[in-house]
Amino acid sequence: MAIGKRVREHMQDSSWIRRMFELGLALKQERGPENVFDLSLGNPVMEPPPEFYKELRRLANDSTPGMHRYMPNPGYMETRQAVADQLAKETGIPYQGANIMMSVGAGGGINVAIHALADQGDEIIILAPYFAEYIFYAYNHYAVPVVVSCDSAFTPNLAELESKLTPKTKAVLLNSPNNPAGVVYDESFLQNLASLLERKSAELGTEIFIISDEPYRKLIFDGVEYPFPQKLYQRTITVTSHSKDLALPGERIGYVAIHPDFCNRVLGFVNAPALMQHVVRALQDVTVDISDYQRKRDFLYDNLTAMGYKMVKPQGAFYMFPESPIADELKLIEMLQEYGVLVVPGRGFGMPGYFRISYCVEQRDLDGALDGFRVVAKELGLTPA
Ligand SMILES: Cc1ncc(COP(=O)(O)O)c(C=O)c1O
Repeated sequence: MAIGKRVREHMQDSSWIRRMFELGLALKQERGPENVFDLSLGNPVMEPPPEFYKELRRLANDSTPGMHRYMPNPGYMETRQAVADQLAKETGIPYQGANIMMSVGAGGGINVAIHALADQGDEIIILAPYFAEYIFYAYNHYAVPVVVSCDSAFTPNLAELESKLTPKTKAVLLNSPNNPAGVVYDESFLQNLASLLERKSAELGTEIFIISDEPYRKLIFDGVEYPFPQKLYQRTITVTSHSKDLALPGERIGYVAIHPDFCNRVLGFVNAPALMQHVVRALQDVTVDISDYQRKRDFLYDNLTAMGYKMVKPQGAFYMFPESPIADELKLIEMLQEYGVLVVPGRGFGMPGYFRISYCVEQRDLDGALDGFRVVAKELGLTPA
């Protein structure tokens, strides 16, 4: 077979999210789309805000020469400066355009960060529950993913993390608000993590970075403040995108921001898409209307907990990560499938015994799914706490 061994192995372990998505397509064909309630994918049904279309129309009529040519690899300086200005406003850290690199989504940005830091065999710490692609992102650059577990509130176990830091550790990959759990890591956790990494970097004579993956940073509910890791730890590489906050996942636009006291430049692509760089320049302080997500979170949380499902209430993103009422969550997932409900097993995020619900879907899918959850709760004899 022409495909390389590494890629072949990864195709075999291919993400549970994709598998559920494919199962959903098959079920829709078999039972009719109206009988399938797919809560498996984080692909928002929400449309981009009106400001996006206005900017897109303005740019379509702009005939300035060179608008769609190559540009310096890290992106247009005007866009990088607009991103830096917004980030400086939000963090109080004096970011400049030179500290920003426009990327092909957050996924592209994380790959750039790992590529820049890791040599073959170096280690990247990944905190469970985690976005399954992280494992492949580490392998893409011949680095080794090292998983650290968490407590029942999904706070990562720092003692375990400390025991797993070695001279080969290059970075801790952090994701808050978290996919799949929806938790926002609080400031005291980040402070403890920062102190640990300072101490261990000094002890090991290395520089351990935080790669902070933040595509859900603007999707936070109940007025919870987002604690910025770079305010507590200078060796922070911030990676984000407009896939979720402007509902543009297909447009592949994001950025990497390096704390002004550090800088680097290694890409795995030529540049981020030109048109989107022009568009997002003017949209740095625009976010989709998150009240719809908050309403859906409340609707699902209230209904599911009333049926007896147990979970930590998510503070952000558009996922929830309930405990499976039976130890083997694959069995639960099969039971839900009987009623057309598709969710993703926790083992796909490094945490068997849980399952992920994605609620960036139409209300009809949530309504239909609740019927299935209700029947399964009765079959399992669940009672509300
Ligand atoms: C935690 C996390 N990181 C990164 C990504 C990839 O984002 P992007 O589409 O901007 O590459 C996702 C997408 O769902 C995600 O959930």
